[in-house]
Amino acid sequence: MTSSSYVLAGQDSELERLRLQSRVWEPSGQHLLDEIGSGQGLRVLDVGCGAMCWLRLLSKWVGPSGQVVGTDIDDAMLSAADSFVAEQSLRNVALIKDDIFATDLEPASFDLVHGRFQLSLGRPAEQMAAYVRLVRPGGTVVVEDVNPNSWQYVPKAPSLAELINLIRQVFAQLGLGDPSVVQLDMFRDAGIVIDARTEVIALPPGHPYQRLPLQFAKGLHAPLEAIAGADELARLEREAEQELQDPGRWGVTFTLFQTWGRRPS
Ligand SMILES: C[S@@+](CC[C@H](N)C(=O)[O-])C[C@H]1O[C@@H](n2cnc3c(N)ncnc32)[C@H](O)[C@@H]1O
Repeated sequence: MTSSSYVLAGQDSELERLRLQSRVWEPSGQHLLDEIGSGQGLRVLDVGCGAMCWLRLLSKWVGPSGQVVGTDIDDAMLSAADSFVAEQSLRNVALIKDDIFATDLEPASFDLVHGRFQLSLGRPAEQMAAYVRLVRPGGTVVVEDVNPNSWQYVPKAPSLAELINLIRQVFAQLGLGDPSVVQLDMFRDAGIVIDARTEVIALPPGHPYQRLPLQFAKGLHAPLEAIAGADELARLEREAEQELQDPGRWGVTFTLFQTWGRRPS
């Protein structure tokens, strides 16, 4: 997979999805940073930061004497991130257009490098090699990604469940049948001792993040249609909309699998 073949690139719906998703997972990121310890004064990198990701969290974590760099390859994402940074007055955040597979950033110039939901870009070993090159010896690499096994609704929602099943098939076609194994292998192959934790969030009835399967169905329309057929996909989307109207239905997110470790000195 090349960098430009990121499956959800260039869609307005993707920008909205990433904004919402970043807000939902922000407390989980804070939990992980609390475990890592104090970040005051550090220089840190958020790779493929999209519209928001960890920029606000990291800005606070490193404080006024620290520096946060957020990178992305996509101009629309960088522009959305730029608006967010201005709106939130995050004065210690700089945004740079950069391709993680051909990065122009200075090697060993960061105390911490973070990448979330980047596995779908493919080439995980190359991604990890870039993270390790960019972090200083003894610095921390953090990777967060999706483990889909907990993703469900209570009470059960058959059409949403089938959409999730199809989305998982599309990601399996990208070599992400078991993304957490890919994630662990990245660290192991880089010789980094792994720490790990997980986060799952219960979404109350009507929470906008319950719509994630439908947002993916929009973004991944062509590959989903190739698997399910146009009529079946349309039926699932229609019925999933109805299932989301149930005022008593809770959502349970996928598991956020958070892994980190230190670059050997
Ligand atoms: C699934 S999104 C995740 C965004 C963000 N990390 C988050 O968790 O909200 C993947 C992001 O990686 C960016 N991206 C794709 N290819 C890239 C590359 N080669 N280098 C840097 N960023 C890239 C996309 O533009 C997109 O913003």
